[in-house]
Amino acid sequence: MMLADSAEVAYNHEALFVQSCEKAHRVLAMMQDSFSRHFATAANAFSVAFINTFVLPHMWTNASAMPQAAYHPHMGAERCEVLVQLLNRLLEDRWQKQLYVAEIGVGFGCTSACLLESIPHLQLTSIDPFTTPPWEQDHFANVRQRLRKYGVRSTLVQDFSDQAASVHTQALDLVFIDRDHSYEGAAADLRDWSPHVRPGGLVAGHDAAFPGVIRALSEHVSSLNVTLHFGLDNMWWYKAK
Ligand SMILES: C[S@@+](CC[C@H](N)C(=O)[O-])C[C@H]1O[C@@H](n2cnc3c(N)ncnc32)[C@H](O)[C@@H]1O
Repeated sequence: MMLADSAEVAYNHEALFVQSCEKAHRVLAMMQDSFSRHFATAANAFSVAFINTFVLPHMWTNASAMPQAAYHPHMGAERCEVLVQLLNRLLEDRWQKQLYVAEIGVGFGCTSACLLESIPHLQLTSIDPFTTPPWEQDHFANVRQRLRKYGVRSTLVQDFSDQAASVHTQALDLVFIDRDHSYEGAAADLRDWSPHVRPGGLVAGHDAAFPGVIRALSEHVSSLNVTLHFGLDNMWWYKAK
């Protein structure tokens, strides 16, 4: 009975994972196939309005020097698509095809799996303590199982991002910051992980809609003299110097 119960629980978690990834991809495919023209127009208008109304005023009040900003509404509708385009552009500039990326905050592993699937020479380090109830150890085991098929290209680190940053040694082409979206979390990740990105690489993240993220980002870039880029799905990124 106990065994049957735990097998059932494990099955449900796996099903939940698959459903959530597949649902995201189905919704995306539907938007692209059926409504691409209308969606792109609406998304473009929405994203520009959103950034002008919410993002930039936040930055103006929080940063002494307003960074230059650019909007990219046609780089894909969700975060994995945007990241794949960014990584493919990085590849255009070099003969070496290997790319090193870290994802901070893995969740169900949807973005990790999508990136590994989409970019054949990607080496991805996915970092998450997996302490979020109610999944905890089952959650970690399910994500590990999901990413196992990518072999040595995937390194899953069960740790807090500050701890992982303190022992990380490989220079990164891109870091994708996507954990708790608090000011403290985003500021700490920008501080701890941006030094790991090679010059010309990208510091990127999700959820530019969160006030804490915008505040941390505006403070972080205020002295860097970089252009801050925004895409759909609340993506942001800048080029490391
Ligand atoms: C929004 S989810 C990540 C979604 C994922 N990036 C994706 O695109 O599918 C946020 C994750 O951040 C993780 N997290 C929370 N605190 C963290 C920390 N200190 N270090 C690393 N990850 C953390 C949570 O466990 C959670 O899984």
